[in-house]
This record gives sequence, structure tokens and C-alpha cells, in this order.
Amino acid sequence: MCGIVGYIGEKKAAPILIKGLKKLEYRGYDSAGIATIDNGKIAIKKDIGKIDDIEKNIGLKSLDGCVGISHCRWATHGKVSRENAHPHCNFEKNISIVHNGIIENYTELKNKLESKGFKFCSETDTEVIVHLVDSYYEGDIKEAVIKALKEIDGSYALGLISSKDPDKLIAARKESPLIIGIGEKENFIASDVPAILNKTNKVIYLDNEEIALITKDKVDVFDINGSKIKKKVHKIEWDAEQAEKGGYEHFMLKEIFEQPKVISETVEGRISNDEITLKKEIGLTKEEIKKIRRIIVVACGTSWHAGIVGEFMLEELAKIPVEVEYASEFRYRDPIIDDGTMVIAISQSGETADTLAAIREARKKKAKIISIVNVIGSAIARESDIVLYTKAGPEIGVASTKAFTSQLIVLYLLTVYFGSIRGFIDKQQVKNRIRDLRMLPLQIQSILDEKNYIKLHAKQFYHKKNALYLGRGINYPIALEGALKLKEVSYIHAEGYPAAEMKHGPIALIDKEMPIVVVATKDNRTYKKVLSNIQEVKARGGIVIAIVTKGDKEIGKFVDHNLYVPKNSYILTPLLAVIPLQMFAYYIAVMRGNDPDYPKNLAKSVCVE
Ligand code: M6R
Repeated sequence: MCGIVGYIGEKKAAPILIKGLKKLEYRGYDSAGIATIDNGKIAIKKDIGKIDDIEKNIGLKSLDGCVGISHCRWATHGKVSRENAHPHCNFEKNISIVHNGIIENYTELKNKLESKGFKFCSETDTEVIVHLVDSYYEGDIKEAVIKALKEIDGSYALGLISSKDPDKLIAARKESPLIIGIGEKENFIASDVPAILNKTNKVIYLDNEEIALITKDKVDVFDINGSKIKKKVHKIEWDAEQAEKGGYEHFMLKEIFEQPKVISETVEGRISNDEITLKKEIGLTKEEIKKIRRIIVVACGTSWHAGIVGEFMLEELAKIPVEVEYASEFRYRDPIIDDGTMVIAISQSGETADTLAAIREARKKKAKIISIVNVIGSAIARESDIVLYTKAGPEIGVASTKAFTSQLIVLYLLTVYFGSIRGFIDKQQVKNRIRDLRMLPLQIQSILDEKNYIKLHAKQFYHKKNALYLGRGINYPIALEGALKLKEVSYIHAEGYPAAEMKHGPIALIDKEMPIVVVATKDNRTYKKVLSNIQEVKARGGIVIAIVTKGDKEIGKFVDHNLYVPKNSYILTPLLAVIPLQMFAYYIAVMRGNDPDYPKNLAKSVCVE
């Protein structure tokens, strides 16, 4: 949802900004641009397209100057065009700005500014900010920014430079993420950590309505009234290499292949001597855990699918009723939250605006909030009572893969922990559950090792126009996730359905052109029923690609294609079944000539509601 990088220091800014921006391209890739202060003047280069192409066409790197801001855009207000690309500047070209977010009262502000003679040259909401700052400038850029921000409704992360004050970089945020990176005789701003990881691992998280005045040697942070605030400097544990492709063709593929390691790392430190050791992280007493009467999960997209798997886990093993809500819908009802209700927010980025809004609604109603988040220090993490971090490392691919499996791991650990404290799982069962969990990394690796076999299947289906994904029980959300992955990166229309629901409508779509992907792993719950659903598909000429348990001899005669996963407990099957579906979607996307890291129209962190 747009990426921002800013630099102030002793080095040439442009190459540093381009490098940082490339790490944020997952946030927006329809246009990009840079502004620097060179010889007391603002110089701007921007264009539509991806950064590499823009660099080739107009040479962003050639901009001189040691202070600069940059932006990659995911269009909200105004079409994709050079004029609408950031940075924007005022008429005299002595103030320039990059922005991520939405200014809700921009029409009103634009009318007001136009009536005062300010001329606009883009269709963006962002441009009002730069003219507003200009209108308030009376010799102190920070004061002008503060006055402008007080008039703005909506969300913003912004970077600003001014040739009237050339040794300063200004940053501000409200609802959209922005961090400050602390270097040696240089400082940075960025929308996300990967942009600056190769420069520093020391960061300050700006909070809502905070403004930072940054020089090469100093960072001062102020509240919206101009009072100075003391901020903590955090150390980031991720290293720069984690944000590189590491020899893989795409981040998505790298992230799929990282899953065995990510799972081990998410588990590490949370199990000891056959016990789940979440006590310290969660901080709830046994009595508080026993008193939980209901859990509401709020999340979006893939994280919402993780929530549905969590619903199966928590209800079955911890005996807590769970409702899984689209975060975007949650606050438009009047959700009933009493003191036995706990809210779990799931988010890779920790910045998804809808999920953030949902937890704020829950907080208003006095719910305790646990978040399962990947990005340390993100807004959702900071606004939760308890944070359980997934340790997936930076996820750059827009299509979420390793974050999903790590979310399932945290949900599983939480479930077994709650279940044992609530007296529904005894010591031996905890031991068995941990044993099952420990099998996963090697089992997932064995699926990844079958990449050529999965690729072969992708080759047979990459030209299809539609696909139906079916699953039952705990694998129903995996059908949803498989379909989401396929549509995100391949642009093939795909629907995920509970297998038995198919006969209540989607069955009308089935013919020999329609591939039906069925999660049909062997268990003693839904397997037989799924076999019946498969026969219903076959009777109508559909082609069935089934995710099956290795060694299952029965299913072969009913389906056209098998993708195998090893056997584990029913509750952990989703972690295995999802892997071939991620790979299938990835290979199909590549065969169709798509770049799976930058699916069209999508952005990694959706920071607008
Ligand atoms: O960062 P979050 O987990 O909150 O993001 C939620 C969704 O936007 C995200 O899962 C989205 O659906 C992905 N593109 C899925 O691959």
C-alpha cells in the first residue's frame, strides 16, 4: 500500500533510496519516484512502472544530493500516471512530499487551497498536504507541517524535504506505518524494516500523530502539539540476507521453501521438556485462561483462513467456542463482547487497517486482545495486550505463504497450552501433540522435494480459466487458501468451498474443463464423505486433482491426479495440505508469464480500510 524510503546523511541519497525502494516494491509497483535536495534545489524524477524499468528509462540514480525521499505507489486516488506518481511538490518546488495513506477531507482542503490560488497538477489526495504545508510556512518547516497535519482527516505516513531547510528530513505518521532507522552520521525513514536492514538494525517506531525532525546526526520526535517526546530505540533481529531472494527466482518460491525452517523457529523457545512454555509470553493466570468463555478471531485474507483453522483447533482441543470474523466487517455490526470474550487478531504485517480497526472496536468494548503478528513493533502488536510473534522473518512475496504456516503453528501452540490448562488435554496428550509438531519440518521438506512432480501437474492446468477448490472440516479453510493463492498470482478465477456445499450450487459449473482441487487427506472424520463428493464431481465429468495422504491406495481409482502429503494428526493436516497448493499456484503463475511477487492490483500491507 505504497512504500516510502527517506535518507539524510553524507552519502549520495539516490542509490540508497532506490535500493530501499526495491525492498518495498511489494507494497506498490505501479509508479515510483525520488526527490533530492541538490545544490539548494529540489530535483525530482518519477514515472510509471516498476523501479528497474523507471531506472532504465529516466535514470533515477543520477539525482545528486545527500537528502532525499522516495516512493513506490499503489494507486488509491488518481489513476496510474506520471503526474500522480510521488513525490509531489508545491508550486515553487521548494517543498516535496511522499505519502502513504488516504486524506479523507482532501476535496474540502483542495477547494479551500484552490480558492487561495494554489495550483494542483495531480489528481491525488497527497498533493493537498504539500500545498497546505506551503500555505503555513513562515520560516519553520516543522511548525508548518504540524499546522497542516492538524487540518487533515485520514491516514498518513509521510516524508518531506524542503530546500528552505535543506539539512532536515521530516517524517510523520497516523494510522499508516513509518519507522526511523538510526545510522552513523546518517538516518533513514521507511514504511517497513526490509528497506533499511542493510544499513541499520536500530529503529524508532513512530506512533500516531508523531512528527520527527531528522538530521544526519539526530532524531527529535514531537507530538502533534509540538512537545518533544522521548522514544525508545529498538533492535531488529532480522538480518539483511533474509530480505534477499537468496538464489530463488522469486520471493514467493523462496518463502515457500523456507517453511520447514520457519516452523522450527516459530516453535523454538516455546517448548521445553514436553511442555508448551507460553506462560511468560501470554502472562495470563490459570484462572484467567479457565475463565475464557469465547474467542473472536479477527483477520483478513490468508490470516483469516488461518483463523478458521484455529477455530477447529481451539474448539476441539481447548473447548473454547470460537467465531472467526472478517476484520473489515467486525465493527459494522455491534459485536457482543463480555468479560469472558477474548479477541485474537491475526496479521502478518501487523498493519492491516481493517484488522487494526477491529481490535480498536474490541478494545472499546473492553476485550482482552491477543495478536498473532509477524512484524515486530507493528501497529497491531503495539495495540494488543498480548503479542505472540510468528517467527517467519520478512515476508516479501505479496502472496502470503510462510506467514500462514507460522500463524497455524502459533495457533496450535496456543490451543495445546490452553487445552492443557483448562484440563482437556493431559500430560501424555501434550507430549503426543508436541511429537506430531516436531515431525512437521521434515514432512514439509519431503513435499518440497517433490517440486518437479508438482510442476508437472501445473503444466497440465496452467491454461485453465477456472478452478474449484474443495475441503471439509479442518481442511475447508485450506481449500479457501488454495483458491486464494491461485487467483492472486495466476489470475485464474478460483473458488474455495466446503466440499459438501458444492452440491448446493457450484456443482452447476462442473464439466470437463473444470479442474477441481480436493483436499482429500485420509482421516477417520471426513475422508469417506470427501470420497463421495469426489464421485459427485466425477459423475459430471470434472477433473479431480486431489491432495492425498502418502500410502492411500483407495483414492487413486476415483481421482485423476494425486499430490501427496505425509501422514500427521488430523489437526496438523492443514500445515501439510497447504504446501502443494502454494507450489501449484506458484508454478502456474510462472507458466502463465506472471510475476508472482507482484500480482497485479495487489499490495502486501493493506493500510486503508
Ligand atoms: O498482513 P495481514 O496478514 O494482516 O494481511 C492480510 C491480507 O491482506 C493478506 O493475507 C492477503 O490476503 C494476502 N495477499 C494473501 O496472500
